[in-house]
Amino acid sequence: MPRSVRDILSMKNSRKITVITAYDYTTAQLCDKAGVDILLVGDSGGMVMLGYENTIPVTMEQMCFFTEAASRGRHNAMVVADMPFMSYQSSKSQAIENAGKLIKTGADAVKLEGGIEIKDTVRSIVEIGIPVMGHIGFQPQTTTLQEGYKVQARTRDSALSLIQNAKALEEAGAFGIVLEMVTKEVANIISGSVRIPTIGIGSGPDCDGQVLVFHDVLGLFEKLKPKFAKRYLELAGEIVDAVTSYKNDVVSGRFPAQEHSFSIEKSELERLRREIV
Ligand code: KIV
Repeated sequence: MPRSVRDILSMKNSRKITVITAYDYTTAQLCDKAGVDILLVGDSGGMVMLGYENTIPVTMEQMCFFTEAASRGRHNAMVVADMPFMSYQSSKSQAIENAGKLIKTGADAVKLEGGIEIKDTVRSIVEIGIPVMGHIGFQPQTTTLQEGYKVQARTRDSALSLIQNAKALEEAGAFGIVLEMVTKEVANIISGSVRIPTIGIGSGPDCDGQVLVFHDVLGLFEKLKPKFAKRYLELAGEIVDAVTSYKNDVVSGRFPAQEHSFSIEKSELERLRREIV
């Protein structure tokens, strides 16, 4: 049975929650097998899968496509899908309709960027029965427009505002909050101030869980290498080496070999040859 909201809530103060992004069936299957608690179908898929510069161009259609594929690959993990930029800001009814679309394609919950300003939207989605995860601190959909990539909560005022945003999301019924690029001390304070789990990315060790982008964990994405992401492999180089060997084998005739080929019965081949000459 996939992890439920209740399972995730019960992990706070008992064990760390593990989250990784997945945008397709195969990746989701592998990460689920590794035992992560949540597969996040992040709108970062727009960058690592579709080649956009940032997450702003990502559409609902693309998120539904990723979500449908990833959710087919999961067995035990919860699937949380990102609501892309401008899929929830216009009105509560727009937000509810789009959250519903992601649930219908296979998500168990949706994630929205924003704090107090989207409190009522979060509440409306939760009230119709769709679990919501919040996302504050660095918000890729909008912070990049205002200040570029910047660590959040470095001052007393910005830290206070972040704490208020976290509390607003909790009051609105969110079951968890992603804290992105928040100073570790403030992430610690927020994690101790709300009853719901915090999931950190670049926010230090004291969050209730951690999330990373799959492509960063495997060293697949070369364009952007965030300081906070631990690269467990450097697969990009290995993939280029493997594909170069394949190309060289084809050009030199080393591939395909006997073991990669199929044969017709000798007698059938002889009959065929007699008939065609
Ligand atoms: O889209 C994404 O991958 C995310 C994570 C960075 C938390 O929102």
